[in-house]
Amino acid sequence: MNNSDNSPLEFEQNLVTVASGKGGVGKTWFATTLCHALSQRGKKALLFDCDFGLANIDIQLGLIPEHDLGQVISNEIALEQAIYPKSKSGLSFDVISGQSGSGALASLKIDRLIDMGARICNLAQHYDYTILDLGAGVENSVMTLARASDKVIVVITADPTSLTDAYAFIKLHNMRNNDADIEIVVNMAEDQNEGRRAFEKIQKVCQNFLNISPTLLGIINRDKHVANAIRAQLPLLSRYPQSIAGGNVIEIAKKL
Ligand SMILES: Nc1ncnc2c1ncn2[C@@H]1O[C@H](COP(=O)(O)OP(=O)(O)OP(=O)(O)O)[C@@H](O)[C@H]1O
Ligand SMILES: [Mg+2]
Repeated sequence: MNNSDNSPLEFEQNLVTVASGKGGVGKTWFATTLCHALSQRGKKALLFDCDFGLANIDIQLGLIPEHDLGQVISNEIALEQAIYPKSKSGLSFDVISGQSGSGALASLKIDRLIDMGARICNLAQHYDYTILDLGAGVENSVMTLARASDKVIVVITADPTSLTDAYAFIKLHNMRNNDADIEIVVNMAEDQNEGRRAFEKIQKVCQNFLNISPTLLGIINRDKHVANAIRAQLPLLSRYPQSIAGGNVIEIAKKL
């Protein structure tokens, strides 16, 4: 894997980052459900809340973790100690929670971010899959952490602002890592045709202007069960195992 400016980050095959550019497209829900689907396939999986601004995986899952990433950043605990193990949560995967609204996390200096990326890579070696949920936007913290992983899944919707923000993310990520493995997930599609059209738009603009061709990992239908499961603070695949969106994510987990 090419690492264009010689940063010390190591690329990890089993570290998968979920990003988007635009906020609110379903990254956190998708990262959580993907992790759950992988664990149901017998994989040892870790869900890592790397949203340094508005972390909320624990809210979506109804967890009350003893530790979070904020304590790791302030050197109170080691990264491993921040793991909320599946044996305690009753989930089928481990979780590291972020710390919502923490200025300390959001303003981490670049060397600390690179160090955090390296520590995440080390931790990922103990799992079949580690899924990183990144924050929205294209700030330094987001872009630096995105470089820690081998594979980046960019979640988009058919909304034009989602496409432009996702393009901005892909462009910056590609500039820093010109060998990037970028795959697209279209979320909240009214149907598979709408999802495919949205994917083709982003693929075309990447081909024309960046000379890269992201691939389609999957299309997830808009499904009211998603919001209902989040409101119940339960994983979708536990609350509504037969839901359409859940089935879409199971298919994506198979393809990974
Ligand atoms: N497939 C779907 N069908 C219907 N609603 C969905 C779907 N995916 C996500 N949502 C809705 O979108 C909302 C936002 O999801 P989520 O918090 O995962 O987005 P996000 O990209 O992580 O946001 P942020 O950028 O703020 O971190 C959720 O509350 C959920 O109700
Ligand atoms: Mg989120």
